[in-house]
Amino acid sequence: MLTVAVLISGTGSNLRALLEAAAEPGFPARIVVVGADRQADGFAHAEAFGVPTVLVPFREFETREEWGDELRRQIDVWTPDLVVLSGLMRLLPAELVDAWAPALINTHPAYLPEFPGAHGVRDALGAGIAETGASVIVVDSGVDSGPILAQERVPVLPGDTEHTLHERIKPVERRLLIETVRAIATGEIDLAAYRTDAGAAAAASDPLI
Ligand code: GAR
Repeated sequence: MLTVAVLISGTGSNLRALLEAAAEPGFPARIVVVGADRQADGFAHAEAFGVPTVLVPFREFETREEWGDELRRQIDVWTPDLVVLSGLMRLLPAELVDAWAPALINTHPAYLPEFPGAHGVRDALGAGIAETGASVIVVDSGVDSGPILAQERVPVLPGDTEHTLHERIKPVERRLLIETVRAIATGEIDLAAYRTDAGAAAAASDPLI
């Protein structure tokens, strides 16, 4: 059984989907802890499934590195086989990526390498393209730049707002995330083959990240 830590910042709808999938008999992974960088609404989903939560508020630390050290300390207590970033709106410090990668994946609401960063949906909409997408990647030290494990196109429809487009993307993200976690758990995806360049300088230009 693959043990999974999930890190969030927001509503945690993708977390919820993963919790539901993991509760199905025969699912080969189990969520052992949910962590966040702020008091996230998504904690309620973890609590509903009896999964422990860990709050490490980013704003209470002087540096990203100190925050990362504490996050690592608190998550590693649960010895997860895999860490999933599911709407964590913070860039992890390079040392932490180094420590967890390649067993560190991220879900992103765009068809990477298109539209990385904190505003993947807004940026796709602003670009006026007909299709965007959803991606699940291995995290490296850049911003949404790691190897792609799964992705799928999602249409942009006339009249879409950031909200309507994001709501169309999220069900695809959920499915890709669940399929990817399952494939990692069964060995169909071997993360050891995805060693990344963790350790290179991180490019954190977006203040939201
Ligand atoms: C998801 O769409 C996730 O891909 C995105 O935040 C949303 C969280 O939704 N993450 C990023 O944009 C990271 N760059 P949720 O809290 O409802 O699962």
